Amino acid sequence: MGEGMMEFETKAIHAGQAPDPTTGSVVVPIHATSTYAQSAPGVHRGYEYSRTDNPTRTALQEVLAALEGVPVGSGGGCVATASGMAATALVGYLLEPGDHLVMADDAYGGTFRFFTQVLARHGVEWTVADLTDPDSLAAAMRPATRLVWVETPTNPLLRIVDLSATVAAAHDAGALVCVDNTFATPYLQRPLEYGADLVLHSTTKYLGGHSDTVGGALVTADAGLHERLRFLQNAAGPVPGPFDAYLVLRGIKTLAVRMDRHCDNAARIAGWLADDSRVSEVLFPGLPSHPQHDLAGRQMSRFGGMVSFRPVGGAEAASRVASATEHFLLAESLGGVESLIEVPAVMTHASTAGSDLEVPADLIRLSVGIEHVEDLIADLDRALG
Ligand SMILES: Cc1ncc(COP(=O)(O)O)c(C=O)c1O
Repeated sequence: MGEGMMEFETKAIHAGQAPDPTTGSVVVPIHATSTYAQSAPGVHRGYEYSRTDNPTRTALQEVLAALEGVPVGSGGGCVATASGMAATALVGYLLEPGDHLVMADDAYGGTFRFFTQVLARHGVEWTVADLTDPDSLAAAMRPATRLVWVETPTNPLLRIVDLSATVAAAHDAGALVCVDNTFATPYLQRPLEYGADLVLHSTTKYLGGHSDTVGGALVTADAGLHERLRFLQNAAGPVPGPFDAYLVLRGIKTLAVRMDRHCDNAARIAGWLADDSRVSEVLFPGLPSHPQHDLAGRQMSRFGGMVSFRPVGGAEAASRVASATEHFLLAESLGGVESLIEVPAVMTHASTAGSDLEVPADLIRLSVGIEHVEDLIADLDRALG
């Protein structure tokens, strides 16, 4: 059956993952090899050297392209990278000195660090805008703007950016749109369907799903961009090894069932926190009080597994609560089966201190796992004291 005919859950298990032709192995083998025997100089079976291509990585790239909805035969596809940041760096290589990019005023701190402390040294200028406000985006655009960088939901404030409107504004100005789809995953949101040029993932998160690997990926439906990214992947070399590619492939098989439980648990917890007098604010796109709740409902099939909130009592209370949970482990990262809690201002987003992206000191971010939700609520109840 053609990939285009399969539903999401079926693609996750079968796209790019046909049984191994030599053995019938139903699991894509971990091809732990750096090189491939050739029958005559330059005559090979499509694989020459594992920086350029490795069959385990090929399977991962094919399933990710299928899940993001790259049309079969479009020439688009996926390049897998050694981390989410390595994928961001490859997008940076698409830009030239004198180019300008626009990014949101809420985003992963490492992305901001890369744009402002790495790309800026290579002559790429940047402007921060509120991408939930079309006027703010319009004001940030310049004739030299080549890239608009979107996260939705944003990390850690969980704002929702209108993909259709942002793509239309960026394309009118001749800029590409890259959407970091790490928080939503293609199960909940497929930015290419809204016209985005590039989708980025930290596969470290929900795609891997088990907090046991670091990786990234870029997906595009544009044949020219795909060819350029394939060139950059090989030329710059930030590739994942076959063991890591295997772990992400394995994670992706259960993405749909895991995401449904993440979404169920997060919605329950967000509602519980919103009703608790020890909490002053809950940020979760699934709450009707969220400013972009309706947009989230249109753009995403569900609201995701991330919840941010501010406890009464300020930064000190946030630090105390985050140190007191037992099931919610105090740790950076997100998207694994186990629940995590963190204080972004001093952990994942420390690099944004003093900038337009600085996050409130009293904000707590939860990556809600797939444990029993009553245990998670009891844990938060105890920690809130
Ligand atoms: C939304 C988002 N994008 C990108 C990254 C970077 O990915 P990695 O840590 O795999 O390099 C992260 C990491 O936390 C993230 O949360």
